[in-house]
Amino acid sequence: MTPDDKKRNAAEAAIDYVKPGSTIGVGTGSTVNYFIDLLADKMAGKITAAVSSSEASSERLRGHGIAVIDLNEAGGLDLYVDGADESNHQLQLIKGGGGALTREKIVAAASAVFVCIADDSKLVETLGTFPLPVEVIPMARGLVSGALQALGGEPRLREGFTTDNGNQILDVHGLRINDPVDMETRINQITGVVCVGLFAHRPADVLILGTEDGISSIQT
Ligand code: A5P
Repeated sequence: MTPDDKKRNAAEAAIDYVKPGSTIGVGTGSTVNYFIDLLADKMAGKITAAVSSSEASSERLRGHGIAVIDLNEAGGLDLYVDGADESNHQLQLIKGGGGALTREKIVAAASAVFVCIADDSKLVETLGTFPLPVEVIPMARGLVSGALQALGGEPRLREGFTTDNGNQILDVHGLRINDPVDMETRINQITGVVCVGLFAHRPADVLILGTEDGISSIQT
């Protein structure tokens, strides 16, 4: 089973969570791309619309003829499906490898159920091997870097990258995140931070992993 097969299998299992007639939240990344393609294939004409976490996913959804609406128009969402860069066993996540963390966190917060889809390499004991993305207001980059260093991290600017919100990303290396809720709270309090890609206050509700044998899932 290749990593792509595993991603596709996880994405396919998430289709079962989609209710006909609903408006769903859709995340960003290569695993979600499989989900979008399968959604178009298996639920054609059955969902009302999608709220998307990135310009890239919006374009893919529209390419399949799926309506994309603003979150303000949709109000609350029943379901959000998105990938992750790392998950621990409590379904606390690191996200933002694709740079869409802020909109992802907003859509996750607006959704009753968050189903995370990934290949099984993403499940870890302790978060932090994957560098933690932090979206910053460009003028505060230096200020925020200093504060992140004080928390024990080694922030590096993601070169040549601007978020959909016109900001920059610092990828923080070298963190071993033993208390994700506390770390998320601390980083949220740094002036100049727009969003941290740590999803601990609002973890996923279900994690579907593509494995060698098919899929396995963890529920909180
Ligand atoms: C996007 O900003 C990220 O949070 C993605 O959800 C994450 O990087 C997972 O991407 P893949 O499905 O491509 O691994």
